[in-house]
Amino acid sequence: MRTQVGIVGAGPAGLMLSHLLHLRGIDSVVIDLRSREDIEETIKAGVLEQSTIDLMDQTGVGDRMHRDGFLHHGINLAFAGEMHRINMYELTGGRAVMVYAQHEVLKDLIARRLADGGDLRFGITDTTVDELTGDRPKIRFRHDGKQEVLECDFVAGCDGSRTYSRYLIPEGEVRTDFFRQYPFAWFGILAEAPPSSDELIYAHSERGFALISTRSPNVQRMYFQCDPDTDPDDWSEEQIWDEIKTRVAGAGATIKTGSIFQKAILQFRSFVCEPMQYGRLYLAGDAAHTVPPTGAKGMNLAMADVHVLDRALGAYYDAKDTGLLEDYTSTVLRRVWRAQHFSWWMTSMLHRFSDATEFDVRRQIAELDMVTGSISASRTLAENYVGLPLS
Ligand code: PHB
Repeated sequence: MRTQVGIVGAGPAGLMLSHLLHLRGIDSVVIDLRSREDIEETIKAGVLEQSTIDLMDQTGVGDRMHRDGFLHHGINLAFAGEMHRINMYELTGGRAVMVYAQHEVLKDLIARRLADGGDLRFGITDTTVDELTGDRPKIRFRHDGKQEVLECDFVAGCDGSRTYSRYLIPEGEVRTDFFRQYPFAWFGILAEAPPSSDELIYAHSERGFALISTRSPNVQRMYFQCDPDTDPDDWSEEQIWDEIKTRVAGAGATIKTGSIFQKAILQFRSFVCEPMQYGRLYLAGDAAHTVPPTGAKGMNLAMADVHVLDRALGAYYDAKDTGLLEDYTSTVLRRVWRAQHFSWWMTSMLHRFSDATEFDVRRQIAELDMVTGSISASRTLAENYVGLPLS
């Protein structure tokens, strides 16, 4: 088999890249270890920043998002017994976010790629990639019991945080990893319940952080900070609701409860690898960087990466211009590190650290006071939350 771009991983980065390349007339093949059902049903994040909304719209895959998603113009910060709204729409001159689950984005992209005749291979095994430093890299894998060799011009490593492709960049001599682990996690639930708030609530409390989000008029997504080795099965529904209610009650929020049908623990890490390219391999999304979920940036960074990669590959195929490809790492890393800082900042402002003293807690409250009380500080949060324009 031969293609122009071999894409390892059918997540947001891999599928959007394949879609963007197709729109310019560049062929790709996307492979993934998981089944299509697995990809379309795994619950992940759910906030699309303005540039992701625009990218979906401009490339013709935004219809269902507008029908089933929820456009939010603001978020709420709850702390020290009060609720404060950040009007992101006004502060950013009309930018907003869409609450629309990541797996719904993936369903839209898969449906569109298949309708456009795209080659997507799910449930593959035994992937290896060779000859990255030559001009004809090869991806080998097994699919439907058959051994396949895919010869490509380029390989895109879009295989998420459990990546194989990142390790193709030799560690030390070429690749450096930057890493931070946080001493807490999030307990995430999905519940059949009506919404408790029109807009998301990010809550700072004595018992730790809580987040009230939504998925639909009947399904709500909520999280609360917990110990990283929490076993979700040790928590009864009643204990979970009590914990969430306690963390937002001081600020006046009332939680509408219901039946909890999914519980999971999300680990907190910040990670970046540099460079994000090696020979004919280009990494995009979580394969190269992960952020803690507080800033809701993960999927958005993946989309921003492939927007840059698509343009770079476009310039190469149009005019054999390799400049944008050479600059890929330095172009995307600016946004990646901006999002790393924002996610770390939101995390450290809102969470309770086990070694925190009363001084630290009062300092956090003072910071939240500034963020909600000063127009320029509110705008800094709003601009980063709705996301910077793509280019
Ligand atoms: C979600 O709805 O899953 C969500 C929302 C905001 C975040 C993280 C996750 O910051």
